[in-house]
Amino acid sequence: MPKIRKAIFPVAGLGTRFLPATKAMPKEMLPVVDRPLIQHVVDEARGAGIEHFIFVTGRNKSVIEDHFDRQFELEVTLNERGKKNDLALLSHDLPEAGSASFTRQQSPLGLGHAVWCARELVGREPFALLLPDVLVQHDPGCLAQMIAAAGALEERANIVAVEEVPKDRVHMYGVVGVGPSKGKAFGITQMVEKPKAADAPSNLAITGRYILQPEIFDVLEKQSTGAGGEIQLTDAMLALAKSQPFYGLKFEGRSFDCGSKIGFLAANMSYALERDDLSAAMREEMQRLMGGK
Ligand code: UTP
Repeated sequence: MPKIRKAIFPVAGLGTRFLPATKAMPKEMLPVVDRPLIQHVVDEARGAGIEHFIFVTGRNKSVIEDHFDRQFELEVTLNERGKKNDLALLSHDLPEAGSASFTRQQSPLGLGHAVWCARELVGREPFALLLPDVLVQHDPGCLAQMIAAAGALEERANIVAVEEVPKDRVHMYGVVGVGPSKGKAFGITQMVEKPKAADAPSNLAITGRYILQPEIFDVLEKQSTGAGGEIQLTDAMLALAKSQPFYGLKFEGRSFDCGSKIGFLAANMSYALERDDLSAAMREEMQRLMGGK
């Protein structure tokens, strides 16, 4: 498989589960500790060797573009005040000139449509897709693990990250059927969107990270709307699976669905507990809240 150089970050959704917080601010800018969700996910992609970051944005999302640009006045002020550490932090997070592209999804017609909006920026090469409201806490990151698994396959293939979910929750996810193993990955025999527990082929759910071949754009081009009146990525993957192999990778690390309130709050606690500067104080606060002190 050729090197995966480009990643798509779809950030054009409405974030209705987080209203009113997301009325004027994009969900992807909500902070987990002191970094916006989108920054955590861009860090993961950068750690996996991604060179070009493609953001599919929408109206009211221009602050995401600003986040990945210089903040000239702030930099001047920090410089005048001798805040070297803060300046270093800002410049570390800044993408290299020309390595970030932004395109707009004019209407939120679904994840599949958001991916299709990036077709010209991706071109005809395999690419990564990362949903910014899913965080995976692990080093190496989830995408790095997937790219390593892709490198071990001798064919052009699509790979999705999967993780175990309790049987009574499979109806909330896209669930895969498990075929023979190939290195750390396994062949996917079927994909079922939101199955009943009794019909689910496994308890392995698709988890917000994908490596896809460019032929997915040809499928999305012709695809009509599916569930919820949206153009669904899973429908396009199902169609592509008729002509190309799909593999699943059970990644190492804990995932957080930061599109849900509980997932987002849990991510904040877990990431704070991992930080040398916050962990002890965070533990104390948690104990106090739980009535331990
Ligand atoms: P979600 O399914 O979480 O949808 O999208 P959402 O609109 O952000 O949130 P809720 O459900 O209304 O609370 C997963 C990712 O796909 C993007 C979102 O921005 C999010 O990062 N997305 C979704 C798009 O870019 N366009 C769409 O049309 C839908």
